[in-house]
Amino acid sequence: MTTANDALCALADDYYVPVYRPRRIVLDRGQGSRIFDIDGREYVDFGGGIAVNALGHAHPALIEALTAQAGKLWHTSNVFVSEPPLQLAKALVEASGFARRVFLCNSGAEANEAAIKLARKWAAGQGRPPERRVILTFRGSFHGRTLATVTATAQPKYQEGFEPLPGGFRYSDFNDLAAVEAAMAAGDVCAVLVEPVQGEGGVMPAAPEFLRGLRALCDRHGALLMLDEIQCGMARTGTLFACQGYGVTPDVVTLAKALGGGMPIGAMLVGPKAGETLQFGSHGTTFGGNPMAAAVAGVVLRELSSPALLANVERQAAAIRASLAEIDTELGLFDEVRGRGLMIGAQLRPEHAGKAAEILDRCVEHGLLLLQAGPDVLRFVPALNISDADTDEGMSRLHAALRDYAG
Ligand SMILES: Cc1ncc(COP(=O)(O)O)c(C=O)c1O
Repeated sequence: MTTANDALCALADDYYVPVYRPRRIVLDRGQGSRIFDIDGREYVDFGGGIAVNALGHAHPALIEALTAQAGKLWHTSNVFVSEPPLQLAKALVEASGFARRVFLCNSGAEANEAAIKLARKWAAGQGRPPERRVILTFRGSFHGRTLATVTATAQPKYQEGFEPLPGGFRYSDFNDLAAVEAAMAAGDVCAVLVEPVQGEGGVMPAAPEFLRGLRALCDRHGALLMLDEIQCGMARTGTLFACQGYGVTPDVVTLAKALGGGMPIGAMLVGPKAGETLQFGSHGTTFGGNPMAAAVAGVVLRELSSPALLANVERQAAAIRASLAEIDTELGLFDEVRGRGLMIGAQLRPEHAGKAAEILDRCVEHGLLLLQAGPDVLRFVPALNISDADTDEGMSRLHAALRDYAG
């Protein structure tokens, strides 16, 4: 007998451009860090919609903000001013301590696309010819799927077949300052774009001295330091902006994912050095700063700034790490557990290489939604307000799933 679940998955196979391979469960509703499928099965959510649902599902303050705005005004376009995006931009500038201006958009790729264009325009404004407007990015990075951001993403698997790619990008090795120094030696780099913690590339934190060294190199070569905090920002690493935890002041920061708590929204924050670069008519987007998304994001920002929430990030991160250490003592699966705050990666030992997807299937069977970061890394990016009880329950389901896997 075909179940409703199977029928819907078959429809997805039929109708979607098959760029995704979703797990064969149809999710229906969520509450906090629990999520339910259409058959009423309940799961602990450690994936948070890929680091998006930072306040869990159905947070009352977000529902209230959304419904209040939904009854007032949905969309204005940017040829008019409306209050929710304006208040959000102001709050972002004030919370950042480094930003002067904000460009609101709809996704992470769009925020990075804006940053790339800003860097080029900034360099052009200094009279640099196009060949001296190189943007430096890092192997293992992920910056999005548009043609420019996939070019910034220094991983061939995302680029293959999409050539010709836009020019003016150069790649260097992450956490290797000497390599960056060499890559910038010609003086033709106008910006460095880097994730403080690489997400899709396997949950790889930048070493503090690497990020600080990038700041110094950018200053020496007259380049912008642009941080992609789309995955690691918005309190995920224990400070509202990841760069605050590193003590590094960037020129540009991009945000998306958790900014909207599940509503699609992105932002580019620009500091004083390049705050006046993009002038009237030089960039834009119809939906950017949509009042409903912005109304929700304003509340997300307020909630994620609370000291209690930031303390919870550290507390739950410690609990997950302690539990992973226990699991590893019993099962010996991990080479390394790394990350910052509630962005944690467990690197599988070489004998389990390529098995992350299989482990995730076992997790689903045990009522846990988990993510991978590449084929060899289990990725933990739960809601930042997850409770002790949900963390415990999720880790005990993971333990059971891994016991099953290890046979
Ligand atoms: C660090 C980083 N940058 C950019 C993106 C792209 O964001 P979006 O998928 O919203 O375009 C992602 C998405 O995973 C990301 O993790």
